[in-house]
Amino acid sequence: PGELLAVAVEVADRAARTARRMRAEAITDVSTKTTDTDVVTAADRAVERQVVEELRRLRPGDTVLGEEYGGAAAGDDGGVRWIVDPIDGTVNYLYGLPQYAVSLAAEVDGTVVAGVVRNAATGAEWTATLGGGAFREGRRLRGSARTTLDQTLLGTGFGYDPARRAHQGAVLARLLPRVRDIRRFGAAALDLCMAAEGALDAYFEKGLNPWDHAAGGLVALEAGLVVSGLGGVPAGPDMLVAAPPAIFAELHDLLTEVDAAGGP
Ligand code: IPD
Repeated sequence: PGELLAVAVEVADRAARTARRMRAEAITDVSTKTTDTDVVTAADRAVERQVVEELRRLRPGDTVLGEEYGGAAAGDDGGVRWIVDPIDGTVNYLYGLPQYAVSLAAEVDGTVVAGVVRNAATGAEWTATLGGGAFREGRRLRGSARTTLDQTLLGTGFGYDPARRAHQGAVLARLLPRVRDIRRFGAAALDLCMAAEGALDAYFEKGLNPWDHAAGGLVALEAGLVVSGLGGVPAGPDMLVAAPPAIFAELHDLLTEVDAAGGP
């Protein structure tokens, strides 16, 4: 994993520079994807192309799955699959909000073994290897020490489908009176890193794609958080919860009670 992480860091750092440079220029090429609110810019595509080219050069035998161009399905042949979100937080990127990131993870046989999340606006960087811990620029991360849900600062995110958003809004209305407060920063990879360093006590979201959580999920796991779905199901498109062990069970039960994984 260490070697894969070194490649990931090198490629993500250059990708973040490209994203930042393109942000300094006028963003003219904006289109929508799954719905009118799901935007993509020329930078998302250019950064992904750059990442894929560099991975092909540095690691010719590996496969790649990316947000914009798709790619390889998970394999079980012992090969490495890279999972790329060229710009996580595209809406923030569009508005110039400094909360967007390059997310790059290396997966072997369906398990993420190395990941890096680089905030392209601020340069902050979070890394993790499976079994090797999670770090923010050399500082080991251990998550939040919070133990009660009513004192929990919870992060979350919303999908792009209007019906899903309506359900997510209804869920929040029931959660909000039960926790300290709720934040929605707009980049799942960074939310997971914030939970890893205790800047959020916990995080949950329904509807994430692998590129949103592959790297950040490993950072959270290696910081000691429980990263899971509900009802013993692994984290996935239905639900991802990342919480310190001391509050995971209580949060899990509350999310189940308010049907956070339900709806469209
Ligand atoms: C989105 C962000 C957002 C989350 C959405 C994601 P994108 O990714 O991570 O915070 O709530 O579910 O789709 O579109 O900015 O790469």
